[in-house]
Amino acid sequence: MASYDVIVIGSGPGGYVSAIRCAQLGLKTACVEGRDTLGGTCLNVGCIPSKALLHASHQLHEAQHNFAKMGLMADNPVVDWTKMQNYKTEVIDGNTKGIEFLFKKNKIDWIKGWASIPAAGEVKVGDETHSAKHIIIASGSESSSLPGIEVDEKIVVTSTGALALDKIPAKMVVIGAGVIGLELGSVYARLGSDVEVIEFLDEITPGMDAEVQKTFQRILKKQGLKFTMGAAVQSVSVKKAKATVSYLKRKKDTQHQVEADVVLVATGRRPFVDGLGLEALGVTLTDRGQIQTDTHYATSVPGIYAIGDAITGPMLAHKAEDEGMAVAEILAEQAGHVNYDVIPSVIYTHPEVASVGQTEEQLKEAGRDYKVGKFSFMGNGRAKANFAADGFVKILADTATDRILGAHIIGPMAGDLIHEVCVAMEFGAAAEDLARTCHAHPTYSEAVREAALACGLGAIHS
Ligand code: NAI
Repeated sequence: MASYDVIVIGSGPGGYVSAIRCAQLGLKTACVEGRDTLGGTCLNVGCIPSKALLHASHQLHEAQHNFAKMGLMADNPVVDWTKMQNYKTEVIDGNTKGIEFLFKKNKIDWIKGWASIPAAGEVKVGDETHSAKHIIIASGSESSSLPGIEVDEKIVVTSTGALALDKIPAKMVVIGAGVIGLELGSVYARLGSDVEVIEFLDEITPGMDAEVQKTFQRILKKQGLKFTMGAAVQSVSVKKAKATVSYLKRKKDTQHQVEADVVLVATGRRPFVDGLGLEALGVTLTDRGQIQTDTHYATSVPGIYAIGDAITGPMLAHKAEDEGMAVAEILAEQAGHVNYDVIPSVIYTHPEVASVGQTEEQLKEAGRDYKVGKFSFMGNGRAKANFAADGFVKILADTATDRILGAHIIGPMAGDLIHEVCVAMEFGAAAEDLARTCHAHPTYSEAVREAALACGLGAIHS
């Protein structure tokens, strides 16, 4: 039995980052992970492999649609699915081994196996019980399917199965027009599948700025994705390697069916806390099964903390990372904190979609007096040269103070561009602060500055 200052349960972006921060702060740290590799869902079966397939399929799209325009004659590029899968695996391996290296460098013990917590201060893995002053639960989340749908990860798949299909399906039905459905749906649409997205609501990506939602759906339609909106999927049956999806059109109250080779269930995720023994310990959960924590990530049981997808808030790797660092700093008696008002969210389609802060809808509902600075990528020279002029940057600022309240970008590299606005918001900047900052030409970032200018006297190139 080993004894530690901190044992972190789970090695996803929340857990491994927290373990490294704890070690950097001089705490004797171990991390328990039951998978064969470190990195959790994100590195093994989530963010990283999906980004590899998004990148590869985007290159195919470029070759098919834009190469010839630039004088690059590469007619009929062919997809070798096995090689593309191998590339994805290599990307995963490189990243998971990188964390193993970081653990060694920071002298963090990797305890291999699945953990349970018999009592505060104790973590049991296999037959061994280890002691720790503090326990951090960073056990993440799992896909939540719907009643009436049995996932087999071959024909009816979650994101995990969708990343490792035997072949590219001729017809794919995606249930849910959220982040996972649209990222993976656009991968297969680009690889040649006929992709139909069935969504319960009337808009895609619930909670996003409405103007972005509309533009995003228009662009995805142009890329070949089909949408059936306002439709509640009720069941999926499988016969002879074909799936039949049954759904109800909510407004007309009519029943429909559609056949598919693969059905991707992308209807959300739920906290993964199985086997930890939380009920016996008396750890309080919310009515949605999340671990209840206070502002210092402490659960209802002294000495046990929780972060990331297992607690409340957006299920995002970077939110988990920030909480992981904050809780480490709190345990080391420093002042760790996370600013939940400035957490960016990104959808890694092409174009990318990124947002931070308030949407127009939220500001209207709160009765805030705000102004809008908007700039289309059509006015951005770099975007035009790169066939990436679809989309816009929208900055929302307080009418009286000019303070930035939110930003919404759909366009090239939106996921990177958003961070200049995040930094500005962290510093409480006004739109004019961004507008007066010199931006290199020609860059996509100029579109952000132009949107900031549009909050004042006006953009130059529109
Ligand atoms: P989501 O919550 O983003 O979207 C689920 C969608 O399914 C919703 O639009 C919902 O209305 C719809 N839906 C639910 N029941 C339905 C039914 N019976 N019939 C038709 N539609 C139905 O969930 P998603 O995409 O599974 O993602 C899970 C989590 O993972 C999210 O919190 C997301 O933020 C996170 N994630 C983030 C990524 C990123 O930051 N790029 C990438 C992948 C996942």
